Amino acid sequence: MSLKSKPSSLKSAALAPAANRARRTATKTSNFRPQTLGRPFVLVNMAMTADGKIATANRAVSSFGSRRDHDHLLELRATADAVMSGARTVDSAKINMGPGGEKFQKQRVSRGLAEYNLRIIVSGSGSIDPQAEVFKHRFSPIIILTTERASASSRRLQGLATELKICGAEAINFPAALRWLREKWGVKRLLCEGGGDLNDALLHAGLVDELHLTVCPKIFGGRTAPTIAEGIGFPTLAHATNFNLKSARRVGDEMFLVYGRAG
Ligand SMILES: NC(=O)c1ccc[n+]([C@@H]2O[C@H](COP(=O)([O-])OP(=O)(O)OC[C@H]3O[C@@H](n4cnc5c(N)ncnc54)[C@H](OP(=O)(O)O)[C@@H]3O)[C@@H](O)[C@H]2O)c1
Repeated sequence: MSLKSKPSSLKSAALAPAANRARRTATKTSNFRPQTLGRPFVLVNMAMTADGKIATANRAVSSFGSRRDHDHLLELRATADAVMSGARTVDSAKINMGPGGEKFQKQRVSRGLAEYNLRIIVSGSGSIDPQAEVFKHRFSPIIILTTERASASSRRLQGLATELKICGAEAINFPAALRWLREKWGVKRLLCEGGGDLNDALLHAGLVDELHLTVCPKIFGGRTAPTIAEGIGFPTLAHATNFNLKSARRVGDEMFLVYGRAG
């Protein structure tokens, strides 16, 4: 499934030419699309209830998938150069955004990826909580994407991040930010883990290439409970982002769905 081409090494030189060809083809077909030229391939992974909610209305519950769903998240992380989340996701849960253990670190290395993924946090106003769990783990660089609105808190953010990148005046310019992530940090495959606000911004910018959804057998209800895409939404059917269903797999009472961007 991956990803970063390995540096030429004795190991790859020892591969039979046919195997080498097959590996190159697999890399191309899984990641190459004209639309992703110059930017990473973007995957979004979310768990949602049967009524499409990603958290309860009071935001007290946002982790409700099974152990299998959690493993799925870690398996996807093990294919990505970087994991990205919005500020409210990062400061509302005890997450470190890391690979999740030695088994996954080994998978990463065997795919030619860095042992630990980069971590990217999106915070346009710089409101991110400095006490958030993610900042207590320094195993890999943390990049904060922000805007000029955060200038008053830039010193504080610089103290938290390996790199603070201003990517716009009011809102993040995601096409430019993603090109920068590819150029500066070599991010070829980017896993976005929500929340709904960040997903909406990526969908509006036409940047979501693959959507992984776990449908969990629960109903949260609640008009204000967040869904996988919040923000301003699309006004008409013609504006909607269209996907094709690539796979559907039932495990226990959960459905694991993978959609690819149509067109
Ligand atoms: N079930 C799941 O799979 C799942 C996954 C992830 C999250 N969640 C839950 O979803 C909830 C959080 O979702 P959310 O939609 O409220 O928040 P979010 O998307 O995690 O974060 C929103 C924040 O990200 C920044 N942001 C997003 N788009 C931006 C843009 N275009 N330009 C500038 N900044 C931008 C802003 O930060 P500033 O305010 O600093 O400007 C914004 O307030 C939490 O309850 C979380 O636990 C569930």
